[in-house]
Amino acid sequence: NKVLVLNGPNLGRLGRRQPEIYGYTTFSELADLCVGWGQDLGLEVEVRQTNHEGELLDWLNDAADNENPVVLNAAAWTHYSYAIFDACGQLVAPLVEVHISDPEKRPEVFRHTSVVTPHAAAVIAGYGIDGYRMALEHLART
Ligand code: DQA
Repeated sequence: NKVLVLNGPNLGRLGRRQPEIYGYTTFSELADLCVGWGQDLGLEVEVRQTNHEGELLDWLNDAADNENPVVLNAAAWTHYSYAIFDACGQLVAPLVEVHISDPEKRPEVFRHTSVVTPHAAAVIAGYGIDGYRMALEHLART
């Protein structure tokens, strides 16, 4: 079944957004990398990004219906969206939570909670873009 790599708000500006934190890889480069890593692992991968919470909820609801494994970087929604919490709770196939930075080690206290973690089979944070590869490897193993 196809793996969905879903990305939340502001990640479309990857490469230009606070590169000292998030690096210089652009979102479209990340998308290409994920598809390639998936091919190496025998996984069909589709990568999406949205700044609209309802759109991410629709994608997660479809992933629940279709039993897709999900790699999720919910970005800032991670920290406060109970709608994302509820949507993640409905997923059937494994969910892997990814963050480019390590939110737990960042100074803003709001980043220290995640509504995604309770539903995640694994959490990969602080490994930069490589975390997405690690998440796909995790799904390939399960
Ligand atoms: C992020 C970390 C979040 O705290 C932040 O709001 C993001 C990106 C990360 O990938 O490091 O937008 O999820």
